[in-house]
Amino acid sequence: MSTPLTDYLVTARTFEEYLEMFALDLPTLAGQRVLDCPGGAASFAADGRRHGVRVTALDPAYALAPGDLAVRALDDVRTGADHVAGSLEAYDWSSFGSPEAHRAARTAAAGRFALDLRRRPGDYVAGSLPDTGLPAESFDLVLSSHLLFTYADRLDAAFHRAAVRELLRVLRPGGELRVFPLVDLRAHRPDLVDEVVADVRSSGTAAAEAPVRYRFQRGADSMLLLRKGVSAPSGCAGPRHAAS
Ligand SMILES: C[S@@+](CC[C@H](N)C(=O)[O-])C[C@H]1O[C@@H](n2cnc3c(N)ncnc32)[C@H](O)[C@@H]1O
Repeated sequence: MSTPLTDYLVTARTFEEYLEMFALDLPTLAGQRVLDCPGGAASFAADGRRHGVRVTALDPAYALAPGDLAVRALDDVRTGADHVAGSLEAYDWSSFGSPEAHRAARTAAAGRFALDLRRRPGDYVAGSLPDTGLPAESFDLVLSSHLLFTYADRLDAAFHRAAVRELLRVLRPGGELRVFPLVDLRAHRPDLVDEVVADVRSSGTAAAEAPVRYRFQRGADSMLLLRKGVSAPSGCAGPRHAAS
């Protein structure tokens, strides 16, 4: 199942948003090989490198020419920010403070992304789930923000199962896959979360839902934490409850 690129916003979340969405501990990230999939126009790879994190970002949008992608990223910041400004009550403003601050932070992140894309094109891989083409067991940590579960209205259960299996395939044994958020665009938790958890558990991956400090879309306050090849996940705030 594949859908056109125009079906998705190529969003530009900030490095700080990633730290909070995924309950990451910055000092322990240094030196790790991290896959950001989908990377979109987020500044995680660009800013992560300054902290010694070895980030590869993967997204179908990276097939666009860098100049076109920079324009697209800024357009999508505007579209996203206009949407948010028109539905203020659907968001928790305790972190950004205001719609203007949100727009400014995302615009700055898109700018850092565009600059980094030109400087280090090799860190940005044009590819798509569920077949990334990346080598097996090549990452210590895989992060997936705002594709799985978010777009439950257009990506079905088979896609979700295949995508998560693929992200686990590129992870080294003992490494973690973290997915955020666990709600869709209408802030409903789709049944897909439990379906994915049941699927990975059947192949020996440990799964737990863990609370995170990140607050923006209402209802999006936890991540799915999958650890490959061990029986109990750890390494972030303790699991709140099993997801199935
Ligand atoms: C909402 S953005 C999230 C970007 C980034 N993670 C963030 O949080 O800002 C969703 C991204 O998913 C990408 N995408 C769409 N289909 C995909 C697929 N099959 N595999 C990987 N990425 C995909 C889109 O190009 C878009 O950049």
